[in-house]
Amino acid sequence: MLKEIQQQPTIIKNILDKQLSHINLNKYEKNLKLINNICIIASGSSRNAGSIAKYFLENILNIPLQVDYASEFAYKDPIVDNKTLIIALSQSGETADTLKALKIAKEKKALTVALTNNKNSTIHKTVDVALEVMAGEEKSIAATKSFTAQLLNLYILGLCMSKILNTLTDTDYKTIVDQLYQIPEEFDKLIDNLSSYDSFAKKLKKYSHIILLGRGPDAGVADEGALKFKELTYIDANSCPTGEFLHGYLAFLDEKTPVISILPPDKIVCNLALNNTLILKEKRNPPLFIIKPEGSKSFDDDDIVSQNIINLPDCDKYIYPFYATVCLQILAYKTAMLLDKDVINPRSLTKVVAHE
Ligand code: F6R
Repeated sequence: MLKEIQQQPTIIKNILDKQLSHINLNKYEKNLKLINNICIIASGSSRNAGSIAKYFLENILNIPLQVDYASEFAYKDPIVDNKTLIIALSQSGETADTLKALKIAKEKKALTVALTNNKNSTIHKTVDVALEVMAGEEKSIAATKSFTAQLLNLYILGLCMSKILNTLTDTDYKTIVDQLYQIPEEFDKLIDNLSSYDSFAKKLKKYSHIILLGRGPDAGVADEGALKFKELTYIDANSCPTGEFLHGYLAFLDEKTPVISILPPDKIVCNLALNNTLILKEKRNPPLFIIKPEGSKSFDDDDIVSQNIINLPDCDKYIYPFYATVCLQILAYKTAMLLDKDVINPRSLTKVVAHE
């Protein structure tokens, strides 16, 4: 698994080099111009990638986007027509719930796109536009490199759509592409610094429960981080949007339930998330772990949090989830190793959930 985590800089660079020039949606120009709503359908980690990308895609396309659990979509009589773009996300391309949801969307005449890590898969062959995630074979059952590859491909799909829909200026498009191209280098730095996560993992391994909090796209990062902790360490890790946590959830917090709070680059939201986090600290006194952009507020003279801070690169708020995700992958992996867990084949997990 560590090897797969470490492959991410190369994979990201390859995807950018190939997909930005390769994805061609011209054939669907007419259909895309009709689209007035987008729905991502997926399960598990794939769904978390969709929850993060939603913010970026809505921002650059100006089209409302919802993210549905594939298992729920299939049985709710979804409101879908030929003005709906369905994006099915599935690393395996064989998840039964996602396939079922896709078939319903097709019956209702939606335009369908799939991102899979297997071009021979059923989902890949079922859709109008099939895109390869290009993460390479992933041996570990829990997704790491396929997750970031999926997220990046969603961003690239959005950029390709923006060209057809004329929703970005050339300058904005170029700025985003330049920011994406910085990811491999920053990933390398994160991965070179693996040992700096040891002290955090040593602290986290002692607990039975962990809470992860994030706002905006980072709420999806918190979901994915909690899933990685659950899958790899079997610690009861749960996530919640930071602000929402104040609405009742904090009742069960205590001094034995650490909170990992992801603070975003956006200054206003960062201050909100920090204030929310400090309220939790004041009311229930959990151990705090803060993930934050390097250049944001310094906590040097704040004893409450200064012990447990992970600094990430300063970057755009839509790029930051890539770094925060990898940081949590490393943290979950390291914690699992200290607990002597089998990270390649965690209990009760399979690469393909082939039943609904
Ligand atoms: C977790 C993980 C799973 C899958 C989920 C859907 O690390 O990989 O949560 O994301 O079972 O599978 P796919 O993406 O193949 O549809």
